[in-house]
Amino acid sequence: MAQWWRERFAERPWWMNLLMAFCGYMALIHMPVDFFLRSPARAEEVWLGIVFRGWAAKLTEPLHWAIFAVGAYGFWRRRPWMWPWASLYVWQVSFAMLVWWIVYRGGFLGFLLALISAALFAAIAIALWRAKDHFQRPRETMRQRYGEWALVTGASAGIGEEFARALAQEGMSCVLTARREDRLRGLAAELERLCGVATRVVSIDLADPSGADRLCDAVADLEISLVVANAGFGFAGRFEKQDTARLRDMIQVNCVAPVVLAKRLVPPMRARRRGALIVSGSIAGRQAMPRHAIYAATKAFDQLFGEALWAELRGTGVDVLVVEPGPTATEFRQVAGETHFAGEPASDVVALALDAVGHQPSVIHGWFNWARAKAVAIVPRSLAILVTEDFVLQQTPEEMR
Ligand SMILES: NC(=O)c1ccc[n+]([C@@H]2O[C@H](COP(=O)([O-])OP(=O)(O)OC[C@H]3O[C@@H](n4cnc5c(N)ncnc54)[C@H](OP(=O)(O)O)[C@@H]3O)[C@@H](O)[C@H]2O)c1
Repeated sequence: MAQWWRERFAERPWWMNLLMAFCGYMALIHMPVDFFLRSPARAEEVWLGIVFRGWAAKLTEPLHWAIFAVGAYGFWRRRPWMWPWASLYVWQVSFAMLVWWIVYRGGFLGFLLALISAALFAAIAIALWRAKDHFQRPRETMRQRYGEWALVTGASAGIGEEFARALAQEGMSCVLTARREDRLRGLAAELERLCGVATRVVSIDLADPSGADRLCDAVADLEISLVVANAGFGFAGRFEKQDTARLRDMIQVNCVAPVVLAKRLVPPMRARRRGALIVSGSIAGRQAMPRHAIYAATKAFDQLFGEALWAELRGTGVDVLVVEPGPTATEFRQVAGETHFAGEPASDVVALALDAVGHQPSVIHGWFNWARAKAVAIVPRSLAILVTEDFVLQQTPEEMR
């Protein structure tokens, strides 16, 4: 635990840690206390050096609160948008200090304090301006970081197909696997032509209990450095109406296959002290999902499995990440038998995953999905489940409800 905190704080210079701690304190303690416990009559907020009082202050408090929360998060995660906004915001504070001391203190002392405090904040603003690299998390290509070969399951469509494209663009040779061989061959030709990487196509049904093992046998001669355990499918409908064989296949593909792949392909990575496993989870795994009961359970399995493995493999050189997409524009809905609705581009999900691997155990795609997942964790479970049921029902065909 102490080691974990040390590693987190070692990611940025000491002065930036202080700014982050200050923002965290303001967002988590000062602003909530101020907002909920201080009456409007006693409220005071300073904007651009001008003091607002009463309701004018009370109504603008949430904006200050949000700024500190966003700042704390941005420093913690070293988000790219922190540059230039953090610096510009602090320039604004520097100007505000000048105004505040001159307007509300005045005289020679006020003028002197205005200059000193404005200079102090200007120094922080300059430091933030020059710290652009800290927010860019420069990263090596996946090939430089992990090695030559990636294996992507479910590469014939959707998120898996985009993973293969992105990894090939980062120089990785790809084992492409799924059942539809024609699609895999088309993708392999594209990657070889456009990215100049090697490919291997392995057509296998992961619902077959021996499928994942046969896949590992088929790549035994390759040094697999990165595994994307992505193949998966859903099945919309009331549990009692669902076909048992298909549910069994779903558990096999969504849960058993990632476990077998991890069991067989991670130990050689560990021995080389280099490699990564990315598991496609889902925000569906964050709560029970009536009319998608088994699918949500398989995704909860993926998430808990991947996150636990992340902890077990820390310090071994092998990174684990569970990527949790929300609704994504792929063939998923059609395969699951849901009524159609739009989703986010699969390439965005993949870009997020490749940015997050090696930095955290799991990542949720999209701020709305993130907020929903966090909300689900704090509201009563029965409420979360029933609201989810309402939502899922809208996508479930009449005959399967
Ligand atoms: N799309 C979403 O809204 C969404 C949201 C959250 C999470 N996810 C997760 O993301 C992953 C990828 O889904 P997607 O959205 O990209 O769906 P997709 O477009 O339907 O692709 C699914 C992939 O899995 C493969 N697959 C399915 N059954 C298989 C089997 N029995 N054996 C081998 N491969 C099999 C499919 O290939 P073949 O049919 O050729 O075998 C296909 O390549 C899944 O794990 C899914 O749970 C998706």
